Amino acid sequence: MNNTEKKVMFSGIQPSGDFTIGNYFGAIKNWVKLQYEFNCYFCIVDLHALTVPQEPAVLRGKTMECYAMLLAAGLTPDNTTLFVQSHVPAHSELAWLLNCGTYMGELSRMTQYKDKSVKQGENIRVALFDYPVLMAADILLYQAHYVPVGDDQRQHIELCRDVASRFNNMYSDTFTIPEGYYPKTGARIMSLSEPTNKMSKSDSNENGYISLKDKPEVIMRKFKRAVTDSDASVIYDEDKKPGISNLLQIYASATDSTIQKAEQECRALSYADLKIRVAEAVIESLKPIQSEFEYLMKDKKLLEEYMQKGAQRAEATAVKTLNKVQKKVGLILRK
Ligand code: TYM
Repeated sequence: MNNTEKKVMFSGIQPSGDFTIGNYFGAIKNWVKLQYEFNCYFCIVDLHALTVPQEPAVLRGKTMECYAMLLAAGLTPDNTTLFVQSHVPAHSELAWLLNCGTYMGELSRMTQYKDKSVKQGENIRVALFDYPVLMAADILLYQAHYVPVGDDQRQHIELCRDVASRFNNMYSDTFTIPEGYYPKTGARIMSLSEPTNKMSKSDSNENGYISLKDKPEVIMRKFKRAVTDSDASVIYDEDKKPGISNLLQIYASATDSTIQKAEQECRALSYADLKIRVAEAVIESLKPIQSEFEYLMKDKKLLEEYMQKGAQRAEATAVKTLNKVQKKVGLILRK
């Protein structure tokens, strides 16, 4: 099947820190599998990262690292259009046009905005509020059928569908209405130190997350410190045993298994042994990615070349949709 016959898939990831195993098991690992089956666009969303304060040099460095990490994880430029969001200006342009058809009320309901704005104190950026509209633009530019994401993005995908449907109704069919595509296991990896919260790369407590760059001894140490409960039975029960359930979910993801099988396999273990077992599985699954990452980071020229090509490919598709939208809303296209 050539690319034009395949369904389109789009997803994005922020370069706002090192990727965690939450990003990996919830998103990236699936992208790698899906790239052969779908016409895939995957994007490092640097403009989204700017919705909270960033150190410019750090953001630049992380964007390059994140690009290398996605390649190291197994995305290949032959099968995927892998690019940086700010390299394709159509994303910002469509976001503006969609802003003109999105309601304040819709955006104020976004739980991620509510959570993140609390952390920002008084000076909350307008862009943080507007974040889901840029995300909708990302997806809609490529006429994506599917958006593979973790559970935390459900509400944003719903908003994207609403905004797209409203536009289609108002101006005639323009956008494909996308669907979220969620993994069976790993859709919601929780923090190791507070297992009722999502694992996040922006967590101020480093023990809460495993970075894809963490060395084996660090991974082992963090798992050994993982918060569990005062009981002693290895049972999957998200409400009563969030810590143990999270460890089982991570184990299932790292070993390409199911939660049920992971539970059976680990049932007889003590908590201490379970933590070691999970840590070892994670170390093993990250090993090839880490060595490939180190190798790729030595060749910045090659990375830049891939970035350029990815952006060109993405732009060719994005501009078509953007022009369509510009015409429909009444703008005169520049010749
Ligand atoms: P971001 O950068 O926070 O996360 C990237 C992907 O990783 C998933 N993820 C998780 N999955 C399971 N458990 C976790 N603890 C965990 N943490 C993160 C996320 O669900 C996501 O799939 N808004 C998006 C980026 C974005 C985007 C888009 C996504 C921008 N435009 C268009 C899809 C389509 C975000 O902040 O992802």
